[in-house]
Amino acid sequence: MDLKQAIEKRTSVRNFTNDCIPIDDLKELVRRAGLAPSVNNYQPWLFYVITNKKVLSNMAFKVANKINQLPANKSIASDNVKAQVEWFATFFENAPAVIAIAIENYESVLEKGVDLSHTEINRIRNYPDIQSVGASIQNILLSAVDMGYGACWLSAPMVAKTELEKILEIKPSHNLIAFVAVGKSKSDTNTKSRKSLNEIFKLID
Ligand SMILES: Cc1cc2nc3c(=O)[nH]c(=O)nc-3n(C[C@H](O)[C@H](O)[C@H](O)COP(=O)(O)O)c2cc1C
Repeated sequence: MDLKQAIEKRTSVRNFTNDCIPIDDLKELVRRAGLAPSVNNYQPWLFYVITNKKVLSNMAFKVANKINQLPANKSIASDNVKAQVEWFATFFENAPAVIAIAIENYESVLEKGVDLSHTEINRIRNYPDIQSVGASIQNILLSAVDMGYGACWLSAPMVAKTELEKILEIKPSHNLIAFVAVGKSKSDTNTKSRKSLNEIFKLID
């Protein structure tokens, strides 16, 4: 599949068949993720690939618990909102594979010559570590399409960051950032509407 086709065909997939993904395909998704650009080529990422059903259920359980503990506001829709968010944050438990993406602190060039903390420099530079991970995640999503799979990027489970880091035994030097659920799509997919080119294109000539 050419790149344009993969970009145009990609849409978030949240319902999967029970088909397992061969380990070589999972490795290939991560290999391509690792080809993304990153700040100073630091490649601050680590990809944890989870296929164990018990681990996925435990993760979803912790996420659901956390969402249910969030303080409700006074809106009558509050319960519905929570239920909806819970689904968008936990459907990954039915995916044949979930890729958890963690980053480690990188040392920026600026850090070597300026008396500011890593956190402060990262903030000034607008979080290049997280930007780098975003590029790698897009590689996974497009590669999934190319390889005949569907995928969905998830940040909602991060409400249970601490609990998930514990389950996945993420090193203290690393920070969990996001997840990608991957599998064969259960049904045909339709892409979502987008803003028109006119709305998003500004030429500064
Ligand atoms: C940073 C980020 C976080 C997202 N988090 C979630 C999530 O937690 N759960 C979910 O179901 N979808 C999540 N999505 C998927 C978006 O909802 C989806 O990309 C958007 O609605 C556009 O639809 P499309 O991907 O089908 O084009 C996330 C996407 C991005 C880029």
